[in-house]
Amino acid sequence: MAELTRDDFGGDDFTWGVAHAAYQVEGAWDADDKGPSIWDTFTHGGGRVFDKTNGDVATDFYHRYPEDLDLVQGMGFDAQRFSISWPRVLPDGVGRASSRGLAFYDRVVDACLERGIEPWVTLYHWDLPEALHQRGGWANRDSVGWFGELATAVAERLGDRVTRWMAFNEPGTFLPFGYLVGGHAPSVRSLRRFQAAVHHVGLAQARGAAAIRAAVPGASVGTTHIFTPPDVAGDSFLHRRAARAFDAAMNRVYVEPGFGLGYPTDDSPLVRGIERFVQGDDMDDLVVDLDFLGVQYYQRFAVGAFPVPGLRFVPLFRKDHKRFDVTAMGWEVDATGLYDVLRTAHEYGKVPELFVTENGAAYPDHLVDGRVHDRRRTGYYQDHLAEVARARRDGVPVNGYFCWSYCDNFEWAAGLRPRFGLVHVDYATQRRTVKDSGYWFSQLLGGTLTPPD
Ligand code: FCB
Repeated sequence: MAELTRDDFGGDDFTWGVAHAAYQVEGAWDADDKGPSIWDTFTHGGGRVFDKTNGDVATDFYHRYPEDLDLVQGMGFDAQRFSISWPRVLPDGVGRASSRGLAFYDRVVDACLERGIEPWVTLYHWDLPEALHQRGGWANRDSVGWFGELATAVAERLGDRVTRWMAFNEPGTFLPFGYLVGGHAPSVRSLRRFQAAVHHVGLAQARGAAAIRAAVPGASVGTTHIFTPPDVAGDSFLHRRAARAFDAAMNRVYVEPGFGLGYPTDDSPLVRGIERFVQGDDMDDLVVDLDFLGVQYYQRFAVGAFPVPGLRFVPLFRKDHKRFDVTAMGWEVDATGLYDVLRTAHEYGKVPELFVTENGAAYPDHLVDGRVHDRRRTGYYQDHLAEVARARRDGVPVNGYFCWSYCDNFEWAAGLRPRFGLVHVDYATQRRTVKDSGYWFSQLLGGTLTPPD
């Protein structure tokens, strides 16, 4: 493959960024006024995180953000996407705001701007205040108003310096894992509460977007979705039906109501019945006015059909480890899927701009003599970026790309073991070491970091 250059992405107008979420990096879990989040409860409950670690310290971004942003700048990135810890700014979820919590995000925004890095703010990346979970969390319809309050508080505070806003990170992950399967906080396993939460998050997304617009004239408002396309493993009627059911449950149910297309109730048993939570003008109120959509992509799934007496069939998720490279998360690498999901998102015709707001891979890295030779990660980025460039050539308006992630961090229920960073973190010392993939980006983007001799 020919070397990629910035020009393959339209030159200076394309945004190059890195992304992270508050709980995964900040640490300082009870510093200052911060209240507990559902992830504090989850990780302190013991046994649910694969390697028994937690985010109490994580990568200590709360204290080390200047050093981290220096490295982000050194690698040549233009943008830092980060999320707000809701219980850091509103310790009880609603009501009293913490001036110290808000001041932390002031400092982060200012530190970005001083380095020529544009701050991109996500309001919700999964760390709901525990106090709100005690009131039912997203399964409680009041959550729509709670989220509106968060959006107003944060937008009013940071809106003089932040233009790019995202309401949610991947409802298609935190809702099924948190409310249906139970493998993520808050560990609920209930179809009813899952469906209620899906509907309320949709309403909250529209409410939050409107609150940002009201507080920040000229804001560019978006949200992010994960897209996990089905790869049909056969061509029978059952296969096609299974792929449709998969797509409805994994992707469309989160994306389409906001576009005014309603819920795909005919295609998936997981979505059927969600109407019981719809009141009054809700279907209109779900429609969200977006300037951009953040597309996140990690894997696609081979879907087969598995006949079950009585149920007719269920989608069967198959792994095809022979055909594809597999990451440390067990995720199969297929860069062409990124092209496909960008096209899919664009073909809805509902948003003028797309950004890849997350894409990246965990591999078993080895730190040896101050270097991490992570060739597979660099290859992963090259392959996926080539698909972004192809999508642009084919007329898809994708105007930026954010790596997941700048540095290794706390990977939710998988703990600290999976390493997703361009920068290695030694958790015992908090020492940062730029990996070869980070140097590769520095070269691509005209950054200042070069490998030691
Ligand atoms: C995404 C999440 C992000 C991170 C990556 C690996 O689904 O949004 O926080 O965990 O996966």
